[in-house]
Amino acid sequence: MTEQDERAPFLYVVVCAAGIATDVGKLITAAQERQWHVGVIATPLAMNGFFDTAAVETQTGRPIRSAWRRPGDSRPFPEPDAVVVAPATFNTINKWAAGIADTLALGTLCEAYGLGVPIAALPCVADALAAHPAYQDSLIRLRGMGVRFGEPYSGEVREDGRRPEFGWERALDLLDR
Ligand SMILES: Cc1cc2nc3c(=O)[nH]c(=O)nc-3n(C[C@H](O)[C@H](O)[C@H](O)COP(=O)(O)O)c2cc1C
Repeated sequence: MTEQDERAPFLYVVVCAAGIATDVGKLITAAQERQWHVGVIATPLAMNGFFDTAAVETQTGRPIRSAWRRPGDSRPFPEPDAVVVAPATFNTINKWAAGIADTLALGTLCEAYGLGVPIAALPCVADALAAHPAYQDSLIRLRGMGVRFGEPYSGEVREDGRRPEFGWERALDLLDR
């Protein structure tokens, strides 16, 4: 058995700058309960107050990655066995589908397809944005690449003043499919 066979499966959690990202710790807890080791890769904007970065680093035991490493630096995370992007923003979904890799998060997502690992995405996109034809085209393209999407979630507050549960575990269920 090789060292690779022996190591625990490693999950990349890509976090975008959506309000719901404040609860991303729930996804990390659920993933760890399912025996995943977790490394978080956040968009630069997501690092800007969208979630508690110190708490996430404590939870995963690893620094959050957001910037590209410098040439010559070793890779801080092992290769992924699966990739989750949650929450996935309108912006990141469209850029990912277009093959744009101008952030580490996008580069990671673009590369995951070529690595052939399972990819799950939980969009958090307002209905008014989701109506944009480019977004619909992006979903079709990414689905065609094998990306497994959770049901649409707009993040909008209901009449009772509450926000529906995001259902973070959906991402892990999609990987198990
Ligand atoms: C408080 C706040 C909440 C936001 N929530 C969302 C959201 O739920 N979904 C979304 O697509 N964009 C949301 N945005 C807008 C994104 O942050 C913006 O489009 C940004 O460019 C996304 O960058 P990223 O995809 O690189 O993370 C929000 C912005 C702010 C300031």
